[in-house]
Amino acid sequence: MELPATAIVIAGASGDLAKRKLVPALDALFQQEKLGGAPLIVGTGRTAFTDEQFREHFSISAPFARRLFYHRHLKGLRQFIDTHGTFGRVVFFLSLPPSAYAATAQGIAAEGFGEKAVVIIEKPFGSDTASARTLNRNLASFFDESQIFRIDHYLAKEAVQNMLVFRFANSLFYPVWNSRHVESIQISALEREGVVERGAYFDKAGIIRDMVQNHLLQLLCLLTMEAPLTLRSDDVCCRKIDMLRAMRIDDCHRFQYAGYRSEHGVDPLSTTETYAELQLSINNFRWTGAPVFIRTGKAVHRRGTEIGVRFKTIPRLLFNEAGTIPPNQIVFKIQPAEGIILDIQSKVPGTDNTLSRSTMNFCYRDSFASAIPEAYQRLLYDVLRGDRTLFVNAQESETAWEVVEPVLDRGPVAMYEQGKLPESGLPVRWIDFDEYQGLCG
Ligand code: BG6
Repeated sequence: MELPATAIVIAGASGDLAKRKLVPALDALFQQEKLGGAPLIVGTGRTAFTDEQFREHFSISAPFARRLFYHRHLKGLRQFIDTHGTFGRVVFFLSLPPSAYAATAQGIAAEGFGEKAVVIIEKPFGSDTASARTLNRNLASFFDESQIFRIDHYLAKEAVQNMLVFRFANSLFYPVWNSRHVESIQISALEREGVVERGAYFDKAGIIRDMVQNHLLQLLCLLTMEAPLTLRSDDVCCRKIDMLRAMRIDDCHRFQYAGYRSEHGVDPLSTTETYAELQLSINNFRWTGAPVFIRTGKAVHRRGTEIGVRFKTIPRLLFNEAGTIPPNQIVFKIQPAEGIILDIQSKVPGTDNTLSRSTMNFCYRDSFASAIPEAYQRLLYDVLRGDRTLFVNAQESETAWEVVEPVLDRGPVAMYEQGKLPESGLPVRWIDFDEYQGLCG
C-alpha cells in the first residue's frame, strides 16, 4: 500500500515512552520501508535541544537518525515542517500526561494543520464517565473522530487479536460459546512488580481505572461479542459497545499491598486499590447466567495474563457417575507466553478406564517461526495506513467508564502481602492459572 508522505510529531519527545517504545518502533518501521517515502520525524517538548542532542537520546540506525529533528514547542511547527518538504499528513503522538491533551489539541489546531492532522493518544481517557465525555468533547471541537486514534495497547497483542480468529474462523467453538455451555469466564491479569516509578499517577487511578476499564473490558468484549458483519473497525466497535452496554458489575473487592503507602509519590494514607476482583454479568441472550470473574493486581507472585472459559460439567453418567470429572476449560494465554490450551479428559494408557486430565496446546512459539512484532510498531503502522480496528472510539471508552463507574473508589480496601495473591472474596473456584505456566513458555 502506497502511503502518503508523512511527518510524525512526537509531543513530549524527551519522555520515557519516546525513548523506550516510540522512536525504536519508528526506526524498525523505517527499516522495513513502512513509513512511506522520505518521512520526517519531529520531536517537540519544553526542553531546548539541538537536533544532534535530540538524536543522541536514542540508539537508532544512522539513516533513521538523519530523518529525526527537534522543534521546541508547537508554535511555529507548521512552518518548520513545511521547510522540510510537502507532507500529505501530519501524525501527532501525544506522549504527554492526559491533562495536557486538550491544550495540545488546541495548539495543533491553531497551527492550521486542518484535515492533515492525525492525533494519537494513550489511556487514561479521562478518570470517570464525566471526565471522559469532557475530554472527547474537547478533542471533537478541534478534530473529527476519524482523525483521532485512542490506543489500548492490549489490542495490539498478537494473542488478543488471535481471539477473534479462534472464535470466528473455527466452526468448532461457535455453537458452545454461550451460557448454555459455558459455566463461567475468568480473566486474570497479574503483575509481579509494584507501582515502581509511577506511584504519583497510580495513586490517583487505582487498578480498576488502570487495567479494568480499558484493557480487561476490551478482552472481555472480544471474547464474548457477537460476530461483526465485517472486520471493519466501525462494525467491530458496534459489537463491542453492545457488550459493554450489557455488562453489569455485581460484586467488587479491593485490596492494597502492604508497603504501597510508602512507595514514592503515594499518599501515606492512600486507600487506592492495587488489586481488585470483580464479578460481572452480561445481560444479553447469549451470556445471561454465565458469570464473569476478573482479578488483576500488582505485586503478586508472578506476571501473567490469562483468560479461562470453563464449560459446564458433564452429566453424572458413564465415566462420571461419581461426579468427579472436572469441566473442560479453554485457557487463552495472552502473556508472557502466548498460546491456547484446551483441557480435556483422556484414558490413562494400560488402565481400565482410569481418566486423567490432559491438555491440547496451541503454542505460538512452536507454530510460528517469525518473531511477534512489538505492539507499538503494529499500532503506529495501523495509524499510518488508516486501519482503526485496534483503536478505541469515543463512545466505546465512555461506555466502558459507565460499566466501572459504580465501583470506582468504593468500599473497603483489604491489605495483602507482597508476592502473594489476596484471598478471594468472590463465589468462584478460580481456575488454577499457575498450572499452565509451564505450557508454551
Ligand atoms: C498499563 C498500565 O496500561 O498496562 C500499567 O498503566 C500496567 O499499570 C500495564 O503495568 C500492563 O501492560 P502489559 O503489556 O505489561 O501487560
